[in-house]
Amino acid sequence: MNHQKIRVAVNGYGVIGKRIADAVAAQDDMELVGIADVVSDYRVKVALGKGYPIFASTPEAETEMRAAGILLAGNLNALLGTIDVVADATPKKVASANFEKYKAAGVHAIFQGGEKHELTGHSFVAQANYASALGRASTRVVSCNTTSTVRTLGALKDAGLLKKARGVLVRRATDPWESDHSGIINTVVPEKAIPSHQGPDAQTVMPELDVITIALVAAHTISHLHSWSVELTRPASKDEVLAAFRAVPRIALIRMAEGIVALNSTKELMSDLGRPRGDMWEVGLWEESLTVIGAELFYNYQVDNQAIVVPENIDAIRALTRSEQDGMTSIAKTDQALGLLREFIPVQETPVLRS
Ligand SMILES: NC(=O)c1ccc[n+]([C@@H]2O[C@H](COP(=O)([O-])OP(=O)(O)OC[C@H]3O[C@@H](n4cnc5c(N)ncnc54)[C@H](O)[C@@H]3O)[C@@H](O)[C@H]2O)c1
Repeated sequence: MNHQKIRVAVNGYGVIGKRIADAVAAQDDMELVGIADVVSDYRVKVALGKGYPIFASTPEAETEMRAAGILLAGNLNALLGTIDVVADATPKKVASANFEKYKAAGVHAIFQGGEKHELTGHSFVAQANYASALGRASTRVVSCNTTSTVRTLGALKDAGLLKKARGVLVRRATDPWESDHSGIINTVVPEKAIPSHQGPDAQTVMPELDVITIALVAAHTISHLHSWSVELTRPASKDEVLAAFRAVPRIALIRMAEGIVALNSTKELMSDLGRPRGDMWEVGLWEESLTVIGAELFYNYQVDNQAIVVPENIDAIRALTRSEQDGMTSIAKTDQALGLLREFIPVQETPVLRS
């Protein structure tokens, strides 16, 4: 491995970008060279306070940001001239237009799930296809829903248990920071098309998956809930299925018996664990409700849409730059640096009462 740090920029410092920036800063093999955006509000000011160098993403933004008193380190072109890889977390359409700039600068580029697979021709989930991203110029970290689908169905496939899967995805209405102006209230809105796009999207990472998804938008802002019905290759026990999920990284079992009864409980647990922004990077899969009837499997899990793709971006940085050849080694390194867990609540020893 090359012992120089990987020089990383984040373009677009919103919900996903600010989390990627903090995650990059937490890795001992990466240097966050700067973040770029077009706004001058509290988010960029907080980044400045953290000591992150700030760059203006467009010439218009440069004028506005300077006028707003943001101490700029330069513009996007200057930033691109000093880095190895950029994680682009700008909105749809902006990201694809940026690709030409990244190609011209000769830097590796990572895009997010709002972009189409065709943009880069490669879609990434670390535990499924790290190896095929090695040394590529670019990849796309798939969306939050797709990441969770690939992690969980990949675990069943690795255990030789997966035949086909059908999932219902109850999606959050909007992100919390945007709930003053977007989102629905007092209704549930089914998506027009079945299958929804997440099933085919999972096939961009694992083409062999037999998967169909149905998506609904509900009136809440805390994360997504997935309910899956899976046909197994053979009758199996509940313990076998739990062992398959336990055998892979980034899936953690959660339990109603411990008070983790709904999406809000998990968010509270993450805050109590001291997670930054109350983030859950793992898929939180309910142990009690997981049910096997013969060769049919049913389960529910929670996806923290704001957080789950963050460790995937870190692994994508190592894969594109070839700084780590082995996917599982990169995953372990990322998870150690961020503090991902296999069990959120450690098994307690029963106290021995002394007479
Ligand atoms: N929010 C989620 O739950 C979520 C989950 C997974 C993936 N994603 C994907 O991540 C990407 C970013 O989504 P988000 O939710 O972080 O969006 P966001 O709106 O929170 O953040 C986008 C940021 O990009 C900035 N920006 C706008 N135009 C720009 C430009 N020309 N140059 C540089 N910066 C610019 C905005 O000011 C904002 O800070 C999208 O592809 C989205 O689909 C989002």
